[in-house]
Amino acid sequence: MNPTVTKPTLILGGTGKTGRRLAERLTARGLPVQIGSRSGTPPFDWENNTTWEPALDGVGAVYISYYPDLAVPGAADTVGAFSRLAVECGVRRLVLLSGRGETEAQRAEEMLKASGADWTILRCAWFSQNFSEGFLVESLLEGEVALPVGSVGEPFVDADDIAEAAFAVLTQQGHVGELYELTGPRLLSFADAVAEIGRAAGRDIRFIRISHAEFTATTAEHELPAEFAWLLNELFTEVLDGRNESLTDGVQRVLGRAPKDFSTYATETAATGIWRN
Ligand SMILES: NC(=O)c1ccc[n+]([C@@H]2O[C@H](COP(=O)([O-])OP(=O)(O)OC[C@H]3O[C@@H](n4cnc5c(N)ncnc54)[C@H](OP(=O)(O)O)[C@@H]3O)[C@@H](O)[C@H]2O)c1
Repeated sequence: MNPTVTKPTLILGGTGKTGRRLAERLTARGLPVQIGSRSGTPPFDWENNTTWEPALDGVGAVYISYYPDLAVPGAADTVGAFSRLAVECGVRRLVLLSGRGETEAQRAEEMLKASGADWTILRCAWFSQNFSEGFLVESLLEGEVALPVGSVGEPFVDADDIAEAAFAVLTQQGHVGELYELTGPRLLSFADAVAEIGRAAGRDIRFIRISHAEFTATTAEHELPAEFAWLLNELFTEVLDGRNESLTDGVQRVLGRAPKDFSTYATETAATGIWRN
């Protein structure tokens, strides 16, 4: 067992999609965790850097899941500042959750590497769980998903695989200085993904492609903040232009097994009833 995890692991975003799953895995093995979020003890807030040092006190490693998204301008500088502080405080083992094909995320990776940390990077595709724990749930329940994206294929990755990979790199030796690109095993368009969810949920759910302007108007109607609309438009423009239309062997390299397929995710998640209207 890696000695850094015998002290608490600080899990930033520890109540979110991947952080919660990592916390469950560490806790199940009797390893101590400290949730790093605004509701944690002590609280951790990316927007208030006076909360960072108290959260680092006594921890052995940090899982860095930034909020809201590494694509947001300035995210890299914030992650860099946090990483340097962690190293100064003697917490050298840092694992960064990053995103594929995002300029600002790749800048955050460079900041992490330059901090002097014992780093590992998990550079991930779009999470399958965006459909069940994120902004797409409401439109799936309404029976129509309208997004500014066409037939581009995305290798959706399951948050359980990301959490398993984070658990492995934190608890086993040999992952320092490694970057793992984590994708699912299959390219699906958003229309394909919505169709699979419809089949799994036994419901008729439509997918329509809309323009970026229409998408911005829709998010405003749903009273989502303008920054959120900007972020989604940015992701749909920058990341879903075909640059990420490829599979990687990251899950296989870390976990020694194939990644979970989207259809398994859809079937398991439909069984929870989350897409039942
Ligand atoms: N979603 C994807 O498809 C995807 C793909 C690749 C990479 N990523 C990266 O993954 C990271 C997390 O994204 P996610 O979608 O999975 O989000 P998430 O982890 O589900 O986000 C929610 C978490 O963030 C915490 N949080 C919210 N505001 C915060 C603040 N001001 N300070 C500290 N913590 C805060 C929440 O706890 P509290 O409410 O208690 O604060 C909660 O634990 C992002 O950096 C993103 O770039 C995401």
